[in-house]
Amino acid sequence: MKRLIVSVLVIFVASFSLFAQNDAPTQKSTLSEERLLLDGWKFSLGVTDPAEEVSLPAYDDSRWETVTIPHDWAVAGPFDKDIDKQVVAIVQNNEGVASEKTGRSGSLPWIGEGWYRRAFDVPAGVAHVSLVFDGAMSEPQVYVNGQLAGVWAYGYNCFEIDVTPYVKEGANTLAVHLNNRPESSRWYPGAGLFRPVRLRTAPEIRFDTWGVFARTTQVSGIDSAGMTAECARLSVNSEICVDFPLEKGHKLYVLNEVFDGRGQKVGENKREVSDSKEAASVVLLKNVSLWSPENPVRYRLVTTLSDARRVWDRRETQIGIRDLYFGPEGFRLNAQPRKFQGVCLHHDLGPLGAAFNKSAFARQVAILKDMGCDAIRTSHNVPAPWQLDVCDSMGMMVMAESFDMWIWPKCKNGYSLFFTQENPNPQADGRQRQWWESDVENLVRCHRNHPSVVMWSIGNEIPEQGNANGLKYTRLMQEICHRLDPSRPVTMGLDRGEAPIWSGTFQELDVPGFNYRLPKYGLAAEASPKGILLGTETASTVSSRGVYKFPPRRNWGDTYDDGQCSSYDLGACSWSNLPDDDWLWQDDAPWVIGEFVWTGFDYLGEPTPYDTYWPSRSSYFGIVDLAGLPKDRFYLYRSRWNRLEKTVHLLPHWTWPGRRGQTTPVYCYTDCPEAELFVNGVSQGRRRKADITLDQVYGEGASAGTASGKSVLDAAKGKTAVIDPDPVDRYRLRWNDVVYEPGEIRVVVYDEKGAQAGEEVLRTAGKASRIELSADRTRLRRLPLGKGGESLDCPDLAFVTVTLTDRDGNVCPDADNLLTFSVKGSGKFKACCNGDATSVESFVEPQMKVFHGMLVVVLEAGSKPGPMTLTVNGKGLKTSKLVLNVE
Ligand code: GAL
Repeated sequence: MKRLIVSVLVIFVASFSLFAQNDAPTQKSTLSEERLLLDGWKFSLGVTDPAEEVSLPAYDDSRWETVTIPHDWAVAGPFDKDIDKQVVAIVQNNEGVASEKTGRSGSLPWIGEGWYRRAFDVPAGVAHVSLVFDGAMSEPQVYVNGQLAGVWAYGYNCFEIDVTPYVKEGANTLAVHLNNRPESSRWYPGAGLFRPVRLRTAPEIRFDTWGVFARTTQVSGIDSAGMTAECARLSVNSEICVDFPLEKGHKLYVLNEVFDGRGQKVGENKREVSDSKEAASVVLLKNVSLWSPENPVRYRLVTTLSDARRVWDRRETQIGIRDLYFGPEGFRLNAQPRKFQGVCLHHDLGPLGAAFNKSAFARQVAILKDMGCDAIRTSHNVPAPWQLDVCDSMGMMVMAESFDMWIWPKCKNGYSLFFTQENPNPQADGRQRQWWESDVENLVRCHRNHPSVVMWSIGNEIPEQGNANGLKYTRLMQEICHRLDPSRPVTMGLDRGEAPIWSGTFQELDVPGFNYRLPKYGLAAEASPKGILLGTETASTVSSRGVYKFPPRRNWGDTYDDGQCSSYDLGACSWSNLPDDDWLWQDDAPWVIGEFVWTGFDYLGEPTPYDTYWPSRSSYFGIVDLAGLPKDRFYLYRSRWNRLEKTVHLLPHWTWPGRRGQTTPVYCYTDCPEAELFVNGVSQGRRRKADITLDQVYGEGASAGTASGKSVLDAAKGKTAVIDPDPVDRYRLRWNDVVYEPGEIRVVVYDEKGAQAGEEVLRTAGKASRIELSADRTRLRRLPLGKGGESLDCPDLAFVTVTLTDRDGNVCPDADNLLTFSVKGSGKFKACCNGDATSVESFVEPQMKVFHGMLVVVLEAGSKPGPMTLTVNGKGLKTSKLVLNVE
């Protein structure tokens, strides 16, 4: 905190400017411009020189590492048990006694202080200069030419620092200090400038950086598929900054023009700017294509600020027109009732750490969309703007979240340290704010134009939810969200059953959300003013790709000597449940408006149920593993969520030396209601999904929202594996008595009419001999460079799945061979990952063991076109090559 107090003083002392801010403009200014500062950074850990010195141009950084941002200084490792060892009781996991925890935040070296330095140019004739950080992990202090220009506390938020008083025309020096305290996160936060930094230059009369806000206020004549509308009303509010007193009668105008994908103008409106420097316009649009996950159509809004003499500023915004309804009828997007088929995602990108990359995230979105997922919750923090660009363009709804804690800390040095501290940066409106207020404001202001964002979340499992502070801050935060964005509702993930209902926090929310607590859903429905409930967090089922434990049984936290969890998908945590248990509610209770599964992908840190086991450093919750390879659960969700394509998936694999003659249950995940299983041609019987209802499991009245209390499931928790009736049998087909014989298993699925609809075969594999390579894309875009050779975007990546097979092409499910990688041509090796939560192999060394027959290699495109060849070698295996094209 001391540092923050010092910074207030420095900011106020340093208020002189090289720019004549308070005079009328004397020179011709250009329009606002934004430049990404991505390359040319110098980085160092552990520098103790005085900050003012480090940030002066003369400072010698020749020994510092040259890096490109987004950058995560910790992801290269090495993994080390002692990095984040803590002796704590994890209260969220209902622990009362402290024990030694390892891997909780990934066991990578993210704790500590780091410096980044870079030169930047300020062109002649600009009146206002600011730096926009999309996020900086964490507690960034921004120095320009030897002076502290501003600070932020929260690592995940976007913030803007007005550096006008500190810059000069020509070369300037920017230095950013970051500090990651131990025990400040419940997961791997990453470290460094892990998102872009933008240099904004602007004229004396300009739009405020996040001051153009477009929202759909009315849509009518929506077609029956929710794809088009006869007309829509687009409200555009603009906030204008003027650096000098305007003469009386000096009128400013804002023109809004909307263009469709073909570049045709489809609507416009011109408004005079009011005395309060705002313009509220309405643009009427006809024959509109509506944005949705299935139809992510965007329009281009061009907003121009001018007076009688000249154009002062211009802003382009990608927008989407869509209609949201959350009310007694549930959730509707473009008048279509739907339930959220969502997943929670932490911000890390597995082997890339927290350094954001658009193509890595786009790959995640593509995998999730194939599963039928239509929404992401950015748990539990503010998303990166690039992340939302990808969601807008690919069609993925977003619950944009803010905090994991408010005043009450979940870990010693978490955001609670700052929540009620004053933000020391000067405020444009002169009113100082506490950090929580600035953070909620920036979350909304920075992201409110993204059509993908459909709701704001003001917190996750906030400990205050059951007391007066819970209600107080819910009101205050919700009020800020409504004021800055009247078009979206506010939610929060509540986990304390009755407590938030008694405190009123639950009822206050636009969209009340429960994390887990299925038996309390009925109680929530009764208390919910609109009668609806969102599963803000569901499942927390755990599994490791390719691992099966016998006999499969429902369990709450079973652990094994190998540090893995079974992929029979029957294990959850003491506070959580299986996907099937959630689906009973999603299917039978009309007032439940969907779910966000914990989690879509595995993430670094939080290795529950192995919090005390080493080495274990990443989660088991993912539907997809850390490498981006689907686990069996992927197909379970797909069988339900992807209504356009067939799913037929068999488990376990069928290579079990040593299990001959032993019972080896076989499950089929399919959208079909019925199937027959054959082992070496012998029928194991035809099974049909069972008609099990919510009321049977949770008691009469559960579906109507009137019953609450213990279910069949809760009665069984921790005691028995046999549940009757078991919701699992409504959603999966199970053959529990199959006896293992090597050879082949085959399933034939039948549709509702009894017609054969597909099949799937698994064969016993022989010895691994071949390396198969397949890339998520074969063509990559070369890194675009500016006139001065600077990079204009993040590099394109390709993810190559490496699979070991026998000579007949059967996947070798237990192969763990060590492979080496080399890349030649127009790109380079970037990272690799095998999805094993217990691996301490480096992500950035070009060698790794396959985990259950597979791993993923990440390649990065360079700035020149041409082929890029990946070669993979392994002892006793035939060398394999894959050629990709950089264009
Ligand atoms: C929830 C929490 C998540 C994660 C999850 C694991 O209670 O919101 O952040 O910890 O539990 O099951």
